[in-house]
Amino acid sequence: MSLDLRRAIALACLVGASMTTAADADEIVVASGAIGTDLVELAAQFDAFTEQSGHTVKLVSMPASTSEQFGQYRLWLAARNPDVDIYRTDVIWAPQLARHFVDLKEPLADVIPNHFPAIIESQMVEGRLVAAPMYTDAPALYYRKDLLEKHGKKPPETWDELTAIAVEIQEKERAEGQSQLWGFLFQGAAYEGLTCDALEWIVSSGGGKIVEEDGSISVNNPQAAAALTRAQSWIGSISPGGTLAYKEEDTRGVWQAGNAVFMRNWPYAYALGNGTDSPIRGKFDVTTLPVGAEGQSSAATLGGWNLAVSEYSEHRQAAIELVRYMTGEEAQKYRAIQNSRLPTLMSLYEDAEIAEKQPLIPRWQEVFLNAVPRPSAATKGSYNEMSSEFWTAVNNTLAGRGTAEENLKRLEARLTRLKRDGWK
Ligand code: GLC
Repeated sequence: MSLDLRRAIALACLVGASMTTAADADEIVVASGAIGTDLVELAAQFDAFTEQSGHTVKLVSMPASTSEQFGQYRLWLAARNPDVDIYRTDVIWAPQLARHFVDLKEPLADVIPNHFPAIIESQMVEGRLVAAPMYTDAPALYYRKDLLEKHGKKPPETWDELTAIAVEIQEKERAEGQSQLWGFLFQGAAYEGLTCDALEWIVSSGGGKIVEEDGSISVNNPQAAAALTRAQSWIGSISPGGTLAYKEEDTRGVWQAGNAVFMRNWPYAYALGNGTDSPIRGKFDVTTLPVGAEGQSSAATLGGWNLAVSEYSEHRQAAIELVRYMTGEEAQKYRAIQNSRLPTLMSLYEDAEIAEKQPLIPRWQEVFLNAVPRPSAATKGSYNEMSSEFWTAVNNTLAGRGTAEENLKRLEARLTRLKRDGWK
């Protein structure tokens, strides 16, 4: 089918959609996790879709942790649950859940070329597009411009520099009465977020990607151990003891109250930190995450969220229409401006309004295009178990339950057992 014909069909579907009468209007159920102001955004976008299509949308709100969402979704999908039509899916889930999702390659053929090819590629499993991208994600090092200037510092380039600056500013500011101030916040809880953070420390120190593209387990090496030992030294010194249970929103809470010099977080914290009610509005900027040593390159873990239509949905057509809307230009632009979420549509990186309102976004194109994918393609259906073994080993190390060397050795043995005669 020619592209023009596809466009014409898509247009006809859209016109048809806008003529939906109450009698053939569907109620579409979307399961999604939410952090920050995601719920407000989703509600506004669902309303706009209802206005255009006549279909109504119901949200099933899930816990913020991607690991908890995954556990629940896997159960529902295994039970062929028809009650949820659309799942908002993490970039890493495609290979594990592919068989439960509708192939969107044909229905969205006219708009797929508008997205960055690598992002579409990340959701392709055996030639099927199992989810369509809402936004991509790559973290930043947030830093307080005012505090760095006051103490005569530049944003750090290496993790050791970050540590030294954080120690110094934390000490001096506390001596001046800022007793709540911490040097560096990151996500240290035992969940997928810690896999992202620790992968960055290890890759940026030359320690590999836990499991390499060819499936080999590389994580037990001296560079990785040194990176984890360094992170362990932050706990209770420049990072609060509570870090061992911190997820994204816990770190943002401390940061946005004005109680930290540095924070590792995703771009959503940028819009929120500059919100009219934020105590740190205008006082911070972002840069790329530090490197292990000069000459090494910064590593940002590739994140991002997509929408997948369940094979067990009884409202497939309407669900695909909603996915088309939520991943399209209007919705992505709204999301970029309101929540500083990185669009996956190439044209939006030329959009003057986005650049003016959220200057992080055009700056971050290069960062996400070079971001490090987690080994979800390499470990196939075992990614979640692999990641869970990894974050457990890292969380234990941070908590002082065994040294980095001991924990990585044990991790290697456990991953070898999980892999057995090849990742499946
Ligand atoms: C962000 C990323 C997602 C990642 C999660 C970890 O939401 O977009 O890919 O898995 O953080 O907490």
